[in-house]
Amino acid sequence: NSTRSVAIDGPSGAGKSTIARAVSKMLGFIYVDTGALYRAIGLYALTCGADTKNPAQVVPLLKRIDVSLRFVKDEQRVILNGEDVSQRIRENAVSMAASNVSAIPEVRAFLFDLQRSIAAANNVIMDGRDIGTVVLPNADVKIFLTATPEDRAMRRCDELAAKGQTIDYETILKEIKERDYNDSHRDIAPLKKAGDAVVVDTTGYLLEDSIAEISALIKSRL
Ligand code: C5P
Repeated sequence: NSTRSVAIDGPSGAGKSTIARAVSKMLGFIYVDTGALYRAIGLYALTCGADTKNPAQVVPLLKRIDVSLRFVKDEQRVILNGEDVSQRIRENAVSMAASNVSAIPEVRAFLFDLQRSIAAANNVIMDGRDIGTVVLPNADVKIFLTATPEDRAMRRCDELAAKGQTIDYETILKEIKERDYNDSHRDIAPLKKAGDAVVVDTTGYLLEDSIAEISALIKSRL
């Protein structure tokens, strides 16, 4: 296997995507955001009016779903049944739906090969919840990126506000804690640090400093 891979896992809002995107540009790697895949399934289930927590309603939908990633000028686009849903999956309602469907084993199995095959064919920085533990257990570098829920909620508010979605801080904080709980307590592929992952806590850090620290860490290990 001649391709290289970096796994970045951690809770929502720790800065994974922003940091991974910046560092992948520096390294000339493809940045793969696996949360987007779970979001696409969540979005589809929502559009069908399914209860996203109910496997009996979600699993039968999988055979009607074709999801893939396209990389346009190194930017990942998510294609759901022929439609580019890269924007729609970022709506706040889709976050919880993604977290709900991601606890369903069939959903995880459905997305597994796609993630593996992208990493086999490209040098990647892949972020998610179970990349270092399940998807790429042999990744060259594993990072567990975290920050306090309050710090993450603050950033998420700023991010959503920048896209014109105003949601108050307390609501976001509550949702972040709920997703943390869901993601780390599910039976299958829960969010947890891989034994050989390096922990980076970005609480109180400027984004530039986190990017510098993580790129240095990755370069020293590749
Ligand atoms: O990273 P993001 O917040 O976009 O992910 C949305 C949801 O997808 C997460 O809350 C998590 O439940 C799920 N997810 C997952 N495994 C991954 C990536 C995301 O379960 N590798």
